[in-house]
Amino acid sequence: MFQSLPLAPPDSILGLTDVFNKDPRTDKINLTVGVYKDETGKTPILHSVKLAEARLLAEEKSKGYLGIEGHPEFLKHSSELALKGVVELDRVSSVQTPGGTGALRVGSEMIGTHFPGSRIWVSNPTWANHNSIFGAAKLKVETYPYLSNDKTSLGLAEMIEHLTNHGRPNDFVCLHACCHNPTGIDPTADDWRTISSLLKEKQMIPFIDYAYQGFGDGLVQDGLGIRVLLADNPQAVLCSSFSKNFGLYSERVGAVMVVNTRANGTEATLSQLKQTVRASYSNPPRHGAATVAMILGDESLRTTWEAEVTEMRNRISSMRTSFVSGMKAVNSSRDFSFLLQQKGMFSYTGLTPMQADWLKKERAIYLVGTGRINVAGISPSNLPRLCQSIADCLNETAS
Ligand code: LMR
Repeated sequence: MFQSLPLAPPDSILGLTDVFNKDPRTDKINLTVGVYKDETGKTPILHSVKLAEARLLAEEKSKGYLGIEGHPEFLKHSSELALKGVVELDRVSSVQTPGGTGALRVGSEMIGTHFPGSRIWVSNPTWANHNSIFGAAKLKVETYPYLSNDKTSLGLAEMIEHLTNHGRPNDFVCLHACCHNPTGIDPTADDWRTISSLLKEKQMIPFIDYAYQGFGDGLVQDGLGIRVLLADNPQAVLCSSFSKNFGLYSERVGAVMVVNTRANGTEATLSQLKQTVRASYSNPPRHGAATVAMILGDESLRTTWEAEVTEMRNRISSMRTSFVSGMKAVNSSRDFSFLLQQKGMFSYTGLTPMQADWLKKERAIYLVGTGRINVAGISPSNLPRLCQSIADCLNETAS
């Protein structure tokens, strides 16, 4: 039977890392998958994480299962980190999930099961996996325009017009709370107010992907959109990831939080989230969530962690600035200063799939075909070669 299976296409992001790893060229540069790297090109384990893990190792008494909903302290702290002071926490039904992807899947699958035929609007462009996850959860995926015509800023008017004309009550709208993936282009406070009012007016429900808290403007500042949306809209789904801001990529730590209209709805919602979890992976893994819970619950560890998030954010932002000036220094035929408005791990360079292919073949520089680069993959040592190669690429591929 399996002989008849067709070959699935490689993943548009993780598949490139497989190709990168096999590339024998020693000066290769990987700007594909969204993983933080320090100046030396390594993905570090945070100091706060190492300290918490040492304590866990000494203190933990059992490897028994967690409850279906996950680690109780983790659930408390993760809800507070995202939503304290934003909504009454007794309106939130929350379960721990394997990473932000698990959160998106559990949240959307619960919706797909109980509200069949539901539609979810995703930005064009969005993280490629959004389409796969929501499709697998049996939601009907629709797209709304996100960028201006020149693709260097938010096309708010087009987005609003599209959702106004085509959105319906109880449609979900997937929004990236901060550090939009793949563009790095976020709504301003005014833009968020416009988006939020529209959702309220149309009775559409925010489905918020919060994978990069702390990587935009700061741990609190990055919640701006969430605060605006939840002030206007009584229900929402929020998916948090702790892969990037705790560097816990392979530990798979995330949470899906459903904000209910009233506190008396949370028990049923929680029970359905738990059913979804039980039928998928029974209950979540302990280690990563216990690490996050320990850090967020301990003043000194938390202070260390917050400083580490600041350091990661600042390094990315300084690399973005250096990239823009580096491109000027090599007399690039294109001005990349629009990248300075972008935030978070990614930047949308405007390079075409053909140019991405040229860079891969000719210079061993890997970026996602959409023109997205992982700015955290840039370091002072690979910057000069990167800038020169992009300038050469623009000259070579000019029509
Ligand atoms: C990315 O967009 O590169 C990250 O979110 C990692 C992933 O799973 O794709």
